[in-house]
Amino acid sequence: MTTPQDNRIDGKEFAARVRATVQAQTAILIRDHGLKPGLAVVLVGEDPASQVYVRNKARQTNEVGMRSDEIRLDASASQAEVLAVVDRLNADDGIHGILVQLPLPEQIDETAVLDRIDPAKDVDGFHVINTGRLQVGLPALVPCTPRGCMMMLHDRLGDLSGLHAVVVGRSNIVGKPMAMLLLQANCTVTIAHSRTRNLPDLCRGADIIVAAVGRPHFVQGDWISPGATVIDVGINRVPREDGKTRLVGDVDFAAAVGHAGAITPVPGGVGPMTIACLLANTITAACRAAGIEEPKV
Ligand code: GUN
Repeated sequence: MTTPQDNRIDGKEFAARVRATVQAQTAILIRDHGLKPGLAVVLVGEDPASQVYVRNKARQTNEVGMRSDEIRLDASASQAEVLAVVDRLNADDGIHGILVQLPLPEQIDETAVLDRIDPAKDVDGFHVINTGRLQVGLPALVPCTPRGCMMMLHDRLGDLSGLHAVVVGRSNIVGKPMAMLLLQANCTVTIAHSRTRNLPDLCRGADIIVAAVGRPHFVQGDWISPGATVIDVGINRVPREDGKTRLVGDVDFAAAVGHAGAITPVPGGVGPMTIACLLANTITAACRAAGIEEPKV
């Protein structure tokens, strides 16, 4: 019988391992190929949460030995100005990954900006070319959060062939790419969402549940079959009794932890993996641009 302690998947520790791998790969690329992977992050405006994300991304990019460019534009920047920055980064051979931080101010057409990024440098994996390539099974840059979830699933379960995975949530950033990756890994995949009928019973039949619906404690403890693996992508801020707020996932963790074989907590589960996978995607993009294999470390 597993105790609640040893069935937790520690995302902080896992992300540190991914970053260590990326750091070692970066050193090899510089030493053997004269290739220093470069990641550019574009921030338009002063959204406080975005500023924190961008600062963390820049710090971690530098820590693994990559080039980090940060381009900040005023909140009043025009569409043409943002597109001009993307064009400049597309043309810069020292930049292998471009990330335009979302959300963008309302005068900017988000889709037009994302579509302008060279798909080969689209380390967010949001460009329709990359979503299409993922769909048909061609090499693609994959959105960071699903890539991180797959790493954690393979680490825990090894081969996923034949397992039934229920993905709760159908967003372009998590739910849909997650379902595609699970399918590629030979899972039987059900995409469910907030309107799915008999969701508790559907989840009870799952070997893997990925919760990415954006509702606090949506997935209940007794929806989880004994031993199932639960990946909680939700990050919801809810009020505490003392008037402050706390972060909770889409899964009722306290109730689920006694049923699951393995489960990611919130915070400290999937969250830390996202930037680590952004760095891993930058390695992928840099190697593909140079026509070399990713260093195995
Ligand atoms: N804003 C919050 N998360 C993300 C992300 O993963 N990518 C981008 N581009 N913007 C974000």
